[in-house]
Amino acid sequence: MMIRTLKAVVVPRPIAWVSSISQEGVLNLAPHSFFTVASEDPPVVQFTSVGHKDSLANVTSTGEFVICLANLDLIDQINSTATDYPPEVDEFEAVGLVAEPSETVTPPRVADSPVAIECQTERTVSFGASTVVFGRVTCIAIDESVMSGDHPDVSLLQPLARLGRNEWSTIGELIELDRIPWRDPGSSG
Ligand SMILES: Cc1cc2nc3c(=O)[nH]c(=O)nc-3n(C[C@H](O)[C@H](O)[C@H](O)COP(=O)(O)O)c2cc1C
Repeated sequence: MMIRTLKAVVVPRPIAWVSSISQEGVLNLAPHSFFTVASEDPPVVQFTSVGHKDSLANVTSTGEFVICLANLDLIDQINSTATDYPPEVDEFEAVGLVAEPSETVTPPRVADSPVAIECQTERTVSFGASTVVFGRVTCIAIDESVMSGDHPDVSLLQPLARLGRNEWSTIGELIELDRIPWRDPGSSG
């Protein structure tokens, strides 16, 4: 009960679309919305597996994974990869997605996803049946089509987010606000 409320109020949550590969070489994809940046330097991301799932088994046994950006265009395929396919099913093939080689790790990225964050599994921490996976970022590959100059443009990325129950969302109104530097009220400058 409490977890349902927690998931409905800790919103919006970005979605890590985790690509991994089993020791037998089967490709796997699954969305994970317990996901964020864990560390800046070194760059580390984290996602949480609730229960022992194929993604968790793969990232711990092979030590590698790729987080593909879950964008609006791919919402149906992303949702399809949340189906609990057995471990021997290639989920790229099952949902009709093209896999493309990554730069620094073995698991491939989703060719149609505009961003791929390549990671090496750094460590895991468990809380009951939930396991937090920390991944050291080894490379970020971004499609030119979502760049505005040298910066990824959020209106082009169209990232999806998870809310409560079965609710999803995209970016709403964009607000740009500069940080206010501390100014000593006693100083004349
Ligand atoms: C939007 C969305 C977010 C999800 N977030 C998580 C999550 O954070 N952790 C988790 O364990 N499962 C999450 N799931 C469920 C998994 O994607 C689902 O259990 C999937 O089958 C796991 O695949 P695997 O066994 O191939 O790893 C989410 C599903 C959806 C649709």
